[in-house]
Amino acid sequence: MEKITIIGAGNVGAHAAVSAATLELGNIILLDRNADLAKGKALDITQSMALFRNDMVVTGTGDYKDTADSDIVIITAGVSRKPGMSRDDLVEINANIVVSIVEQVVVHSPNCILIVVTNPINTMVQLAYETSGFSKDRVIGMAGILDGGRFKYFIAKELSVAASEVTTMVLGDHGELMVPLEDHCQVNGQPIAELMSRERIEVIIHKVQYGGAEIVNLLKTGSAYFAPGLAVIQIVKAIIRDEHKTLPCAVYLQGEYDVDGAFVGVPVVLGRNGIEKIVEIHLSERELKAFNLSVAHIKERTEELKQKRL
Ligand code: LAC
Repeated sequence: MEKITIIGAGNVGAHAAVSAATLELGNIILLDRNADLAKGKALDITQSMALFRNDMVVTGTGDYKDTADSDIVIITAGVSRKPGMSRDDLVEINANIVVSIVEQVVVHSPNCILIVVTNPINTMVQLAYETSGFSKDRVIGMAGILDGGRFKYFIAKELSVAASEVTTMVLGDHGELMVPLEDHCQVNGQPIAELMSRERIEVIIHKVQYGGAEIVNLLKTGSAYFAPGLAVIQIVKAIIRDEHKTLPCAVYLQGEYDVDGAFVGVPVVLGRNGIEKIVEIHLSERELKAFNLSVAHIKERTEELKQKRL
């Protein structure tokens, strides 16, 4: 059975563990520096699986030795934002956390595929990539799946259609400059431009870009976790089941989309070895303009962090 380690037993980590156990994806280890928190949540999740007649076991721990030889390691640890904060405000504090975790992961699971969920994701995943020394096909940031789910929800609500009939793709940074691809969004194959006005499309794009902030403002104590926890497990499932599925993920671009040396959300094909292929779709003029702005923001934030850490 595959071994999946989730680092950080906060809300996102715990929900990722629930999702992975529900889908029976493997042997799940939940690690937190607060070992009892990880152990308590792991017991609770495992006992809930027994009610499903599902034999998955989640093991809680504070010791990296228990994560040895994981096939997949997901990093969810870090500080989440509070009302009024942007994901960018977390960059320095979470950078230290991500680096210290990756140093441990490299020692205990040198062959794993690493998935980063900690915000600001595009910069944290680049830091994880550089710290790990892993090849770029096994370092992945989770963002576009979550944002794409929000995009589906808002379109479905606006048009009173089933969310499952809406096709979305969200690229670029996981921040306010994310790029919901309006000219690729369809309901049962019909472009949204045929179904709603330009003004409504713009309102919805704004809602997607601030979808996380809307939840932060309501929760007041932290950020969303049900959808982020499930979204990262879509990546895990595509890898473990060798699905060859195309999902938007933050991956290292070296020339694709005319971007060099940054982790940017783009569609990728995922299979047992991680990223099998970066899919280059044709962006409309307005999508491309938004994408380039988003990439410039990722590069600027990542460069600023590098300067501060020198
Ligand atoms: C969100 C956070 C997890 O978008 O970034 O909800």
